[in-house]
Amino acid sequence: MKLEIFDNYEGLSLRAAKEIIGVIQRKPNAVFCLATGDSPKRTYALLTNEATQSGVDFSKAHFIGLDEWVGIPPSNPGSCHYYLDTNVFRPLGISAARIHLFDALSKDLPNECHSMDETIRRLGGIDLMLAGIGMNGHVGFNEPGVSPNLYSHVIHLDEMTQNVGQKYFNGAVVLKQGITLGLKHFLETKLVLLVANGGEKAAIIKRSLEENISENLPATFIRKHSNGKVFIDSAAAFKLIKAR
Ligand code: PGA
Repeated sequence: MKLEIFDNYEGLSLRAAKEIIGVIQRKPNAVFCLATGDSPKRTYALLTNEATQSGVDFSKAHFIGLDEWVGIPPSNPGSCHYYLDTNVFRPLGISAARIHLFDALSKDLPNECHSMDETIRRLGGIDLMLAGIGMNGHVGFNEPGVSPNLYSHVIHLDEMTQNVGQKYFNGAVVLKQGITLGLKHFLETKLVLLVANGGEKAAIIKRSLEENISENLPATFIRKHSNGKVFIDSAAAFKLIKAR
Protein backbone atom coordinates (compact mmCIF):
# COMPACT_ATOMS: atom_id res chain seq x y z
CA MET A 1 0.00 0.00 0.00
CA LYS A 2 1.17 3.52 -0.75
CA LEU A 3 0.02 6.57 1.18
CA GLU A 4 0.04 10.02 -0.39
CA ILE A 5 -0.88 13.13 1.55
CA PHE A 6 -1.97 16.22 -0.38
CA ASP A 7 -2.12 19.83 0.77
CA ASN A 8 -5.79 20.00 -0.05
CA TYR A 9 -8.83 18.27 -1.53
CA GLU A 10 -8.18 19.70 -4.97
CA GLY A 11 -4.70 18.16 -5.17
CA LEU A 12 -6.01 14.80 -4.01
CA SER A 13 -8.87 14.88 -6.53
CA LEU A 14 -6.57 15.84 -9.38
CA ARG A 15 -4.26 12.93 -8.57
CA ALA A 16 -7.15 10.43 -8.41
CA ALA A 17 -8.54 11.71 -11.74
CA LYS A 18 -5.08 11.27 -13.30
CA GLU A 19 -4.91 7.66 -12.07
CA ILE A 20 -8.25 6.90 -13.74
CA ILE A 21 -7.13 8.53 -16.99
CA GLY A 22 -3.85 6.60 -16.82
CA VAL A 23 -5.74 3.31 -16.66
CA ILE A 24 -8.06 4.10 -19.59
CA GLN A 25 -5.11 5.23 -21.69
CA ARG A 26 -3.28 1.96 -21.04
CA LYS A 27 -6.40 -0.19 -21.40
CA PRO A 28 -9.32 1.28 -23.39
CA ASN A 29 -11.70 -1.53 -22.32
CA ALA A 30 -10.79 -1.26 -18.62
CA VAL A 31 -13.31 -2.19 -15.93
CA PHE A 32 -13.91 0.55 -13.35
CA CYS A 33 -15.70 0.50 -10.03
CA LEU A 34 -16.31 4.06 -8.91
CA ALA A 35 -17.80 4.73 -5.51
CA THR A 36 -20.39 7.34 -4.72
CA GLY A 37 -20.25 9.72 -1.77
CA ASP A 38 -18.81 13.14 -1.11
CA SER A 39 -15.12 12.15 -1.13
CA PRO A 40 -14.76 11.34 -4.86
CA LYS A 41 -17.12 14.05 -6.13
CA ARG A 42 -14.42 16.50 -7.16
CA THR A 43 -12.42 13.68 -8.79
CA TYR A 44 -15.39 12.99 -11.06
CA ALA A 45 -15.82 16.66 -11.95
CA LEU A 46 -12.12 16.92 -12.89
CA LEU A 47 -12.22 13.59 -14.71
CA THR A 48 -15.26 14.38 -16.81
CA ASN A 49 -13.91 17.87 -17.65
CA GLU A 50 -10.59 16.45 -18.74
CA ALA A 51 -12.25 13.66 -20.73
CA THR A 52 -14.45 16.14 -22.57
CA GLN A 53 -11.69 18.67 -23.25
CA SER A 54 -8.95 16.24 -24.23
CA GLY A 55 -11.15 13.63 -25.87
CA VAL A 56 -10.26 10.82 -23.45
CA ASP A 57 -12.32 7.91 -24.73
CA PHE A 58 -14.28 5.87 -22.18
CA SER A 59 -16.61 4.34 -24.77
CA LYS A 60 -15.09 0.86 -24.48
CA ALA A 61 -14.82 0.85 -20.68
CA HIS A 62 -17.14 -1.00 -18.31
CA PHE A 63 -18.48 0.35 -15.02
CA ILE A 64 -19.37 -1.80 -12.03
CA GLY A 65 -21.46 -0.49 -9.14
CA LEU A 66 -19.81 -0.73 -5.75
CA ASP A 67 -22.96 -0.68 -3.66
CA GLU A 68 -26.55 0.50 -3.29
CA TRP A 69 -29.10 1.20 -0.58
CA VAL A 70 -31.62 -1.66 -0.60
CA GLY A 71 -35.12 -0.43 -1.44
CA ILE A 72 -34.06 2.99 -2.77
CA PRO A 73 -35.04 3.48 -6.43
CA PRO A 74 -32.61 4.88 -9.06
CA SER A 75 -34.88 7.93 -9.41
CA ASN A 76 -34.07 8.99 -5.83
CA PRO A 77 -31.24 11.59 -5.86
CA GLY A 78 -29.73 9.89 -2.79
CA SER A 79 -29.30 6.56 -4.59
CA CYS A 80 -25.88 5.47 -5.80
CA HIS A 81 -27.46 4.87 -9.19
CA TYR A 82 -28.62 8.49 -9.52
CA TYR A 83 -25.26 9.81 -8.29
CA LEU A 84 -23.29 7.81 -10.86
CA ASP A 85 -25.65 8.74 -13.69
CA THR A 86 -25.31 12.41 -12.80
CA ASN A 87 -21.62 12.65 -11.92
CA VAL A 88 -20.04 10.04 -14.17
CA PHE A 89 -22.10 8.21 -16.78
CA ARG A 90 -23.98 11.07 -18.40
CA PRO A 91 -21.00 13.47 -18.50
CA LEU A 92 -18.83 10.71 -20.03
CA GLY A 93 -21.59 9.50 -22.37
CA ILE A 94 -21.40 5.87 -21.20
CA SER A 95 -23.87 3.54 -22.91
CA ALA A 96 -26.26 1.48 -20.78
CA ALA A 97 -24.75 -1.81 -21.99
CA ARG A 98 -21.49 -0.90 -20.26
CA ILE A 99 -23.03 0.00 -16.91
CA HIS A 100 -23.50 -2.82 -14.40
CA LEU A 101 -25.23 -1.67 -11.21
CA PHE A 102 -27.08 -3.57 -8.49
CA ASP A 103 -30.86 -3.51 -8.76
CA ALA A 104 -31.60 -2.74 -5.14
CA LEU A 105 -35.35 -3.07 -5.76
CA SER A 106 -35.01 -6.68 -6.92
CA LYS A 107 -37.19 -9.28 -5.23
CA ASP A 108 -34.24 -11.65 -5.53
CA LEU A 109 -31.22 -9.90 -4.04
CA PRO A 110 -29.09 -13.08 -3.75
CA ASN A 111 -29.47 -13.45 -7.50
CA GLU A 112 -28.42 -9.81 -7.97
CA CYS A 113 -25.25 -10.63 -6.04
CA HIS A 114 -24.67 -13.77 -8.07
CA SER A 115 -25.07 -12.02 -11.42
CA MET A 116 -22.79 -9.14 -10.34
CA ASP A 117 -20.08 -11.65 -9.40
CA GLU A 118 -20.56 -13.38 -12.77
CA THR A 119 -20.34 -10.06 -14.66
CA ILE A 120 -17.09 -9.16 -12.93
CA ARG A 121 -15.67 -12.61 -13.67
CA ARG A 122 -16.77 -12.46 -17.33
CA LEU A 123 -15.14 -9.03 -17.76
CA GLY A 124 -11.84 -10.34 -16.36
CA GLY A 125 -11.99 -8.57 -13.00
CA ILE A 126 -11.95 -4.93 -11.96
CA ASP A 127 -8.98 -2.85 -13.13
CA LEU A 128 -9.50 0.17 -10.90
CA MET A 129 -11.69 0.74 -7.87
CA LEU A 130 -12.02 4.19 -6.36
CA ALA A 131 -13.65 4.18 -2.94
CA GLY A 132 -14.14 6.38 0.07
CA ILE A 133 -13.85 5.38 3.72
CA GLY A 134 -16.93 5.53 5.91
CA MET A 135 -16.89 7.16 9.33
CA ASN A 136 -16.98 3.62 10.78
CA GLY A 137 -14.21 2.34 8.50
CA HIS A 138 -16.47 0.68 5.97
CA VAL A 139 -15.52 0.34 2.31
CA GLY A 140 -18.54 0.11 0.06
CA PHE A 141 -21.05 -1.41 2.46
CA ASN A 142 -18.52 -3.76 3.98
CA GLU A 143 -19.43 -2.89 7.51
CA PRO A 144 -17.35 -3.65 10.64
CA GLY A 145 -17.41 -7.40 11.31
CA VAL A 146 -17.89 -8.44 7.66
CA SER A 147 -16.07 -11.54 6.48
CA PRO A 148 -13.15 -10.74 4.15
CA ASN A 149 -14.02 -13.90 2.20
CA LEU A 150 -17.22 -12.56 0.67
CA TYR A 151 -17.92 -11.43 -2.86
CA SER A 152 -21.21 -9.53 -3.42
CA HIS A 153 -23.63 -9.72 -0.54
CA VAL A 154 -26.55 -8.07 1.23
CA ILE A 155 -25.68 -6.64 4.61
CA HIS A 156 -27.44 -5.05 7.57
CA LEU A 157 -26.18 -1.48 7.77
CA ASP A 158 -24.33 -0.33 10.84
CA GLU A 159 -26.18 2.29 12.87
CA MET A 160 -23.53 4.87 11.99
CA THR A 161 -24.02 4.20 8.27
CA GLN A 162 -27.80 4.49 8.64
CA ASN A 163 -27.35 7.87 10.31
CA VAL A 164 -24.49 9.31 8.24
CA GLY A 165 -26.25 8.13 5.05
CA GLN A 166 -29.08 10.58 5.67
CA LYS A 167 -26.81 13.35 4.33
CA TYR A 168 -27.32 12.12 0.76
CA PHE A 169 -31.11 12.40 0.89
CA ASN A 170 -33.50 15.34 0.79
CA GLY A 171 -35.63 14.06 3.66
CA ALA A 172 -35.34 11.34 6.31
CA VAL A 173 -35.21 7.81 4.87
CA VAL A 174 -35.09 4.35 6.37
CA LEU A 175 -31.75 2.78 5.47
CA LYS A 176 -31.54 -0.72 6.88
CA GLN A 177 -29.75 -2.84 4.31
CA GLY A 178 -27.13 -2.41 1.64
CA ILE A 179 -26.04 -4.53 -1.31
CA THR A 180 -22.34 -4.37 -1.98
CA LEU A 181 -19.28 -5.86 -3.60
CA GLY A 182 -17.28 -7.78 -1.02
CA LEU A 183 -13.80 -7.42 0.40
CA LYS A 184 -12.77 -10.31 -1.84
CA HIS A 185 -13.52 -8.10 -4.87
CA PHE A 186 -11.64 -5.27 -3.20
CA LEU A 187 -8.56 -7.45 -2.65
CA GLU A 188 -8.71 -8.91 -6.17
CA THR A 189 -9.05 -5.52 -7.90
CA LYS A 190 -5.88 -4.67 -9.81
CA LEU A 191 -5.58 -1.11 -8.48
CA VAL A 192 -7.51 0.29 -5.52
CA LEU A 193 -7.58 3.99 -4.64
CA LEU A 194 -9.01 4.94 -1.26
CA VAL A 195 -9.67 8.65 -0.87
CA ALA A 196 -10.57 10.68 2.21
CA ASN A 197 -10.59 14.36 2.95
CA GLY A 198 -11.45 16.71 5.78
CA GLY A 199 -10.81 16.74 9.52
CA GLU A 200 -13.87 14.62 10.32
CA LYS A 201 -12.10 11.66 8.66
CA ALA A 202 -8.85 12.11 10.62
CA ALA A 203 -9.74 9.67 13.42
CA ILE A 204 -10.89 6.87 11.14
CA ILE A 205 -7.89 7.38 8.85
CA LYS A 206 -5.56 7.05 11.81
CA ARG A 207 -7.30 3.85 12.95
CA SER A 208 -7.39 2.40 9.41
CA LEU A 209 -3.69 2.96 8.84
CA GLU A 210 -2.30 2.30 12.31
CA GLU A 211 -4.48 -0.36 14.00
CA ASN A 212 -4.13 -4.10 13.34
CA ILE A 213 -5.68 -5.36 10.10
CA SER A 214 -9.06 -6.70 11.13
CA GLU A 215 -12.56 -7.28 9.77
CA ASN A 216 -13.73 -5.04 12.60
CA LEU A 217 -12.26 -2.18 10.57
CA PRO A 218 -12.68 -3.13 6.89
CA ALA A 219 -10.59 -0.20 5.57
CA THR A 220 -7.52 -1.78 7.21
CA PHE A 221 -7.59 -4.37 4.41
CA ILE A 222 -6.12 -1.77 2.06
CA ARG A 223 -2.82 -2.60 3.76
CA LYS A 224 -3.13 -6.19 2.49
CA HIS A 225 -3.56 -4.97 -1.08
CA SER A 226 -0.46 -5.29 -3.22
CA ASN A 227 -1.50 -2.35 -5.38
CA GLY A 228 -3.51 -0.16 -3.03
CA LYS A 229 -3.10 3.60 -2.81
CA VAL A 230 -4.51 5.87 -0.12
CA PHE A 231 -4.90 9.51 -1.07
CA ILE A 232 -5.78 11.88 1.75
CA ASP A 233 -5.59 15.60 2.31
CA SER A 234 -3.64 17.18 5.16
CA ALA A 235 -6.79 17.66 7.25
CA ALA A 236 -7.58 13.92 7.14
CA ALA A 237 -3.91 13.13 7.84
CA PHE A 238 -3.42 15.31 10.89
CA LYS A 239 -3.74 12.53 13.49
CA LEU A 240 -1.30 10.17 11.77
CA ILE A 241 1.88 9.56 13.75
CA LYS A 242 4.16 9.70 10.69
CA ALA A 243 2.49 12.74 9.18
CA ARG A 244 3.09 14.90 12.22
P1 PGA B 1 -18.31 10.06 1.95
O1 PGA B 1 -18.69 8.52 2.16
O2 PGA B 1 -17.35 10.08 0.79
O3 PGA B 1 -19.61 10.73 1.62
O4 PGA B 1 -17.67 10.53 3.20
C1 PGA B 1 -17.69 7.59 2.29
C2 PGA B 1 -18.27 6.22 2.56
O5 PGA B 1 -19.21 6.10 3.35
O6 PGA B 1 -17.77 5.24 1.99
